[in-house]
Amino acid sequence: MEADVSDLLEETERQPMTTTSDDVLIRFTDVNKTFVTRSGQEVQALRGLDLSVSRGELVAIVGQTGCGKSTAFNLLLGLYAATTGTVSVEGLNPHDDFEALKGKIAVVFQDGRLLPWRTAEQNVALGLEYMGVSKAERLEKAREWLARLGLKGRENAYPYELSGGMRQRVGIARCFALNPDIILCDESFSALDELTADRLRGEFVKLVKEEGKTGVFITHSIEEALTIGDRVAVFRAPGHVAAEFTIPGELDETGLAEMRRKVRSVMANGVVAA
Ligand SMILES: Nc1ncnc2c1ncn2[C@@H]1O[C@H](COP(=O)(O)OP(=O)(O)O)[C@@H](O)[C@H]1O
Ligand SMILES: [Mg+2]
Repeated sequence: MEADVSDLLEETERQPMTTTSDDVLIRFTDVNKTFVTRSGQEVQALRGLDLSVSRGELVAIVGQTGCGKSTAFNLLLGLYAATTGTVSVEGLNPHDDFEALKGKIAVVFQDGRLLPWRTAEQNVALGLEYMGVSKAERLEKAREWLARLGLKGRENAYPYELSGGMRQRVGIARCFALNPDIILCDESFSALDELTADRLRGEFVKLVKEEGKTGVFITHSIEEALTIGDRVAVFRAPGHVAAEFTIPGELDETGLAEMRRKVRSVMANGVVAA
């Protein structure tokens, strides 16, 4: 029998991004986070949070406002430490190993967080500047990524000269230009009009997949979570995962409606209504 190597190769190339559990990049294990307000009151933002994200996965976290999504996000960024439990990113503690994780995580914020006195190109180059990349290389990368986000010709525009959607494109370009392992988004498209947000969601997912990135996308929108996530983790207050749903690649209208109903039910009641 003629062994057809090209068939084998094709088969390998068709393999989905690996999502095996032994390749976990992000893991929350029984994480609690309690804030003490200035008046001395304790606020439990996370209680018993367990969640893991494997390499190549794009996980959407959805939940009502105040349920602890941004707290979980800030723990991943190492902005503060867990009260109890462990947070692990690539096997490291993001709070204690902040320096070691530099450049491995990049963030797309809601408002783009662009520096108003820098051009689009200079804003994209900023992260690379922090990473010590040479000027020539960072400008090349910045231009390449602005072009991929459809902003060729607008490299020298200042943020005030760009629309909200374009500013967010610059924010996404800055994130990918860093070539991080992990991309974190907190309500990144929430301030945009619906059609602009739709378009950016599609482009964002495509880029994450093309570049083989691992993503965590936080949103309060069920629709957005279902559009973006390979998996949707539903948060309930105080911050824990009430349920997780794997989202099939090809969902028809009926399947989507059913998934929407389940997620909404967990968000509202903590369980899937019968
Ligand atoms: N720095 C802080 N100090 C005190 N309370 C906080 C702080 N950050 C968040 N919280 C509280 O923790 C809870 C979760 O907040 P957050 O993580 O921002 O929720 P979400 O992003 O889901 O809206 C809320 O009750 C919020 O008021
Ligand atoms: Mg938030």
